[in-house]
Amino acid sequence: PVVKEIFGLANLEETIREAYGLRKVVVVAGDSEASPLTKRELGRAGAKALLQAMRGDDVVAVTGGTTLAEVAEQLTPPSNTSLKQSWFVPARGGLGESLEIQANTIASGMAKRVGAGYRLLHVPDLLGRDAYDSLVHDPNIHDIVDMIRQARIIVHGIGDAMEMARRRKLEQPVIDELQRDGALAESFGYYFNKDGVVVHRMLTLGLRLEDIMKAETVVGIAGGKAKARAIHAVLKFGQEDILVVDEAAAVEIVKEI
Ligand code: BG6
Repeated sequence: PVVKEIFGLANLEETIREAYGLRKVVVVAGDSEASPLTKRELGRAGAKALLQAMRGDDVVAVTGGTTLAEVAEQLTPPSNTSLKQSWFVPARGGLGESLEIQANTIASGMAKRVGAGYRLLHVPDLLGRDAYDSLVHDPNIHDIVDMIRQARIIVHGIGDAMEMARRRKLEQPVIDELQRDGALAESFGYYFNKDGVVVHRMLTLGLRLEDIMKAETVVGIAGGKAKARAIHAVLKFGQEDILVVDEAAAVEIVKEI
């Protein structure tokens, strides 16, 4: 806490917490975009916030991304509670990004690190209508999707809308549409404008907006100056409970308030 005061981090935390009505904000020193060490710290802080939110019999839905991969890497089993009765699941069908940062990989990695269970969802990230309609009725898929939708805790990364559109190789007409609609942020397959309004969603199996709204604890983890506007947009959506960011993002977020 003393060190935090020196850097004014505690101040940033409280300013952001109050402005968006969050339960808790953690700001780690530095810029994770520029420094892998800071990204590791962000992961460590994210892992700690997640463990603190867990009860021991949770269903935790996690997204993919490099930030969440770092959270998984930094997770260590808690000394005071057993997480044997907990489950980690991917927030959505994850195939599409490279294996290391897919939600399935992160969910299983986290579960193994803390001795919890996991279930995976082996469907593409982006589905056509026909594929969606048939998969949604498959009994095995139905089971796991049901579990995902009941997640008590959701842990997610936040991306810049255009960067994520590129990473997901969306088609140009869709990118044009996103741009026209003012999409700034992407998270859990949804694209948000500056007011936190969902302007686009991908047809994927997994978490729906209503599931995010009823989850008890939603934890967002993201860093870097370039993501500040995206983080602001997701905070405006209003479902976040806990936010873990780095200083570079926090300083910019405060300017958006
Ligand atoms: C994706 C998540 O995999 O990662 C998104 O589904 C998130 O919710 C994105 O926006 C962020 O990725 P990164 O690599 O910047 O942490």
